[in-house]
Amino acid sequence: MTEVRPATADDVPSITAIYNHWITETHVSFDAEPQTIEERTAWFSQYAESGRYRVFVAEQNGQLVGVTYSSKFRPKASYETTVETTVVVDPAAVGLGIGRVLLSHLVEALQTEDVHRAVALIALPNQPSVTLHEQLGYRTVGIHDEVGRKFGRYWSVQIMERAFS
Ligand SMILES: CC(C)(COP(=O)(O)OP(=O)(O)OC[C@H]1O[C@@H](n2cnc3c(N)ncnc32)[C@H](O)[C@@H]1OP(=O)(O)O)[C@@H](O)C(=O)NCCC(=O)NCCS
Repeated sequence: MTEVRPATADDVPSITAIYNHWITETHVSFDAEPQTIEERTAWFSQYAESGRYRVFVAEQNGQLVGVTYSSKFRPKASYETTVETTVVVDPAAVGLGIGRVLLSHLVEALQTEDVHRAVALIALPNQPSVTLHEQLGYRTVGIHDEVGRKFGRYWSVQIMERAFS
């Protein structure tokens, strides 16, 4: 049974560990170095339990197995009704439906906020992520060609966008 709830400061070490796996082992995050608990704590401090920037975690049997969040898309003021969304699942728990439960929860929470568009930026290849976002109402609006360099090669990024009313 997967439970989704707003994240708390106590979740920061588990969130950091899950995210750092994807940073160090794969191209799906363009961070080059693992994040520290201090960096993640500073990141977490921008979030509240309402508004357009939210963080939710998924738990199974008391174990944190995934995180999803919405964050500022671009700093300039006119972008404020657009958020960037991210979803990351514990590598030991992928393919079990946790990503879908998490992202559905975030999308539902954003429905009642002043959000007009959500953008997901997906480093390719990442078919699980593309399919998941399509299932949750995101459509592909383009591909940035080879905009990232990691592990000595270039990677392209698929831009997906979801409309909110
Ligand atoms: C992408 C990610 C969040 C998906 O979460 P997940 O819990 O593994 O995915 P789910 O089990 O909820 O699957 C959702 C859908 O994705 C698709 N999917 C999942 N795994 C897949 C795979 N290996 N290949 C192709 N499609 C896949 C399926 O269509 C699935 O729907 P279905 O069960 O109805 O067939 C997860 O794999 C992950 O954390 N990956 C690394 C981080 C990342 O890439 N995050 C996204 C950055 S934008």
